[in-house]
Amino acid sequence: MEHYLFALGRNPQLSLLELISFFKNKDINGRILEKSEEFVLVSLPDFNASKAMKQFGGILKIAKVLDDDLYFGSKNKVTFAVNWFKSDPSKHLKIIKGLFKELGLKATQKFAKSRSIVPSKAKGLDIELIVYKDKLFKVVASSNPKEYKDRDEKRPVFNPLKVTSIRFAKILINVAQPKKEIFDPFCGTGTILQEASLMGYSCIGLDRQIIDARKNLRWLQKKFVSAKGKWDLIQGDAARLSKRVKKVECVVTEPYLGPFFKRPPLFREALKISKELEQLYAKVLSELHKVVDNKVVILIPQIKTKERKVVTIPMVKILKNTGFKVCNPAKGVIIPLLYDDVKNNVQRLVYILEKV
Ligand SMILES: C[S@@+](CC[C@H](N)C(=O)[O-])C[C@H]1O[C@@H](n2cnc3c(N)ncnc32)[C@H](O)[C@@H]1O
Repeated sequence: MEHYLFALGRNPQLSLLELISFFKNKDINGRILEKSEEFVLVSLPDFNASKAMKQFGGILKIAKVLDDDLYFGSKNKVTFAVNWFKSDPSKHLKIIKGLFKELGLKATQKFAKSRSIVPSKAKGLDIELIVYKDKLFKVVASSNPKEYKDRDEKRPVFNPLKVTSIRFAKILINVAQPKKEIFDPFCGTGTILQEASLMGYSCIGLDRQIIDARKNLRWLQKKFVSAKGKWDLIQGDAARLSKRVKKVECVVTEPYLGPFFKRPPLFREALKISKELEQLYAKVLSELHKVVDNKVVILIPQIKTKERKVVTIPMVKILKNTGFKVCNPAKGVIIPLLYDDVKNNVQRLVYILEKV
């Protein structure tokens, strides 16, 4: 067993939920030793960090406890940087410099003044280290924001106001713990399907219009050889989906969340929208109950109003009537989990559901 450090994304609870779900789904026997708002320390058997990193949406870096050489490359001059967490930097810097000297390397430190280095800046470094509670870790894999940005913005159909973010899509897929297949009954431009396909899952998408998703998925297949998962698109109404889809393994979806508001709506407007959404979600969940085998991971909105109130959807009632219950797969993470984007008037709650 080795000690690994996982750097969490901007919603630490969601990242933790993703990490625990990922371990469960892949049958990885990871024991969480410590967790904070920034890192989770895990004891793990042999683990392919680079491969895992490609699957994560909410994990920024994976570091391994330094138990062998600092550097295995062929350069004589290297650049390095150190992230600090609850440690005394000066003490460790001396040790680190000593290690470089032993290897006969001329090492230049970058970002000496910052305590934590964002993955996009760390890309050009030869060695990145983390000193976590006085223990030294070497970063063995980190996320690639540029790759995400390109995949997001360069696809044929992209509307930043309407799409689910790539990172968020990946997190939701991991949380659903699919084995082979996911179904998105509100697939829109196909973000969840595209990420699922890249993660090797087959996927089915349904929407009132599927032209956008088709264009994007065809583009993805041409551009990325790793987009191996098969996909199928169905044009239809999610409120009557069992007419078109007979059996699916699990569901990952960001449904219709109501109209887009530039400014917060009035309380009475929000109430009217929430009533409409309540009806839609009740119909969709009762349809999903007929076809789904495992988990349903669904985002449910809460509307922030001009009067500074929050209008919610009565999910307890909906779940009771549709035969679902909330599932809590990770200790210390409470479902539903709030995903609040401050710029947005609609907050989203992540629900993980199972049939009663
Ligand atoms: C929040 S968007 C989904 C965004 C999507 N995940 C993406 O990244 O593009 C909601 C989608 O629900 C679709 N929609 C709304 N009502 C529907 C219904 N009754 N049945 C099927 N699709 C519906 C809309 O066309 C829209 O594409």
